[in-house]
Amino acid sequence: MTQNREAWGSRFGFVLAAAGSAVGLGNIWKFPYIAGENGGAAFIFIYLICIAIIGFPVLIAEILIGRTTKKNPVGAFAALTDSKLWVSVGFLGVIAGFMILSFYSVIGGWTIGYVVETMRGSLTHFATPDEAGILFGSLVGDIRWGIGFHSLFFALVMLIVIRGVKGGIERASKIMMPVLLSILVILIIRGVTLEGASKGLAFLWVPDWSKINGQSVLIALGHAFFTLSLGMGAMLTYGSYMSKRDNVVSSAALIVFLDTLIAIMAGVAIFTAVFASGLNPAAGPGLIFQTLPAVFSTMPGGDYFSFLFFLLLAIAALTSAISLLEVVVAYFVDEKGWSRKTAVLIFGGVIYLLGIPSALSFNLLADAKIFDKTFFDVVDFTASNVLLPFGGLMIAIFAGWIWSRTAVMTAVKAGAENLFEAYPWFEGLWFLFLKYVAPVLITLVLLKSLGIL
Ligand code: PHE
Repeated sequence: MTQNREAWGSRFGFVLAAAGSAVGLGNIWKFPYIAGENGGAAFIFIYLICIAIIGFPVLIAEILIGRTTKKNPVGAFAALTDSKLWVSVGFLGVIAGFMILSFYSVIGGWTIGYVVETMRGSLTHFATPDEAGILFGSLVGDIRWGIGFHSLFFALVMLIVIRGVKGGIERASKIMMPVLLSILVILIIRGVTLEGASKGLAFLWVPDWSKINGQSVLIALGHAFFTLSLGMGAMLTYGSYMSKRDNVVSSAALIVFLDTLIAIMAGVAIFTAVFASGLNPAAGPGLIFQTLPAVFSTMPGGDYFSFLFFLLLAIAALTSAISLLEVVVAYFVDEKGWSRKTAVLIFGGVIYLLGIPSALSFNLLADAKIFDKTFFDVVDFTASNVLLPFGGLMIAIFAGWIWSRTAVMTAVKAGAENLFEAYPWFEGLWFLFLKYVAPVLITLVLLKSLGIL
């Protein structure tokens, strides 16, 4: 079995696919609005620290567990320990994959829907964000629109994953990631050349520390997990297709760099435009779907930029969604001996159905609240704020305390011999973060998420 396991065509292919997983709605939809709500530059500074001291060390560990075992999250822990506890951690990852993909696809559907609406000319004639908000409300409130685009988005995800690791995921990432980057460059040029753009740049670079409190630190840390696709085995699964000749540490560094670069670039493109139109940067989740269409309405060539922007968002969402489905598929292929096609069709189908109540949370089921949250919010909160940090915590503890240090070092040095020779201090620092810094900080986030702190 192991010899026939699928693999990436090259290290570059792996890095692009993993960066594709990391760069998603988290970077372009979520990051700008949480940065906006939490005061801009100061929040970004804290987020960067979280990425460096928690995201990066845990990402190396997660990829390494996958590469060493060549297995899905459940099989990987089963291969490294005898303990049922760790196998259930892997299992929780697969469940988180089910959950995140189900609601992610709903928003992914909106992004395609917005590309279509732009082409139909219905998105760029607003005088105020409130007007754009009314259209947004009526679109997501329309059952057929919501479920229709959720279906379309999901079909695309399944189509890519069914073609396999190299011919599907890697190939799609190699086409989509350069397109994504080019669109972002165009949008940045548009943004910074608008009159009044400098206020947007100041918002991103000049910190206002008074806005920072415990809550914003926790949001920054939680987001570090989500944006790097950490804690549920997506990076582990992608790592399992990676060659032992390739360098895990420098690949992880490149993934972190690309993910952060693209989040910041999205921030620049969005905030220069928002400030130039004199709109509110702290508009919350509606920033992208309500404030931006109002911005595009005021801009020369707004139609084109709107089209490009929502296409960018759809591509980013797609390359992340395929990594979520791949976790589930790898589990059924490795552990249950299913064919890739059967696994994609059956479990893709199940996750698609699970997404339907999330799509209906914006219309039919909008008032069906569980603990004051809609179905969509419950799934999002449980997966993003509980399961991901928990998974990240367990990965840090596993690599720092459970897996023997000699075994970890042998595994990580394969392909990275020179790096550890050139920077001998890196090992100690990495373990310091894995063993102490990450577990303590993540535990704080979890307690906060669960309302205990
Ligand atoms: N990293 C993705 C984003 O920023 C979301 C994601 C989380 C993807 C977990 C895979 C696994 O949108």
